[in-house]
Amino acid sequence: MIRLDKYLADMGIGTRQEVKKYIRQGRVTIDGLPVKKAETKVDTGKVCVAFDGESVEYREYEYYMLNKPAGVVSATEDPRDRTVVDLIEGTRRTDLFPAGRLDKDTEGLLLITNDGALAHRLLSPKKHVDKVYYARVKGIIGDEDIRHFKAGVDIGTGEKEERTLPAKLEIIRSAEVSEIRLTIQEGKYHQVKRMFESVGKEVMYLKRERMGKLVLDETLLPGQYRRLTEEEIKGL
Ligand code: URA
Repeated sequence: MIRLDKYLADMGIGTRQEVKKYIRQGRVTIDGLPVKKAETKVDTGKVCVAFDGESVEYREYEYYMLNKPAGVVSATEDPRDRTVVDLIEGTRRTDLFPAGRLDKDTEGLLLITNDGALAHRLLSPKKHVDKVYYARVKGIIGDEDIRHFKAGVDIGTGEKEERTLPAKLEIIRSAEVSEIRLTIQEGKYHQVKRMFESVGKEVMYLKRERMGKLVLDETLLPGQYRRLTEEEIKGL
């Protein structure tokens, strides 16, 4: 049960002050009857709330697939840079956050949601959720790198070992600048870049293509986003 003004504000009808005014003006109905008290409790999903005659369904959780562009930070706010949450314009929700982080210069799949429990499930290292990255890497990549990554590499500082779990490296094209696909089940800070550093190579471009069952919609250009489909949400 939530207050009528919160219900409407959460669904982007207006700010809390604006929706209070709309309610006083009699523009909001519950099951067809005008309700003029903003504090009226609404049993979400059981009654039909309408604004100016149009029904407004309540969605507790929102899920957006963003193709993160380079140059924005994976945070909810930042004193200098644009954040991934700033890119989501179709909502007035203030509780959205990115489920996980991509570096400022990394592109690709990022889930933006307000579902904390789901984010926890996706990101917990114990759950071994696959994260698939496409990268362009300076240098020739060979079978030796595949073996190293499969066995786990040390991405520690030198003083302290930090060993990665087995990862699957696929070579798309080996050349001066190689193209690869890497599947990891962890999300350590700068993990992919540090894994390549550990074998003496440098990541020039990095993009996340998949997280668990969630695959980046290739029709989304960097900076574009869409809501997840019901099927995609179930798959999480
Ligand atoms: N690994 C990295 O190095 N950077 C990312 O943004 C994601 C994974």
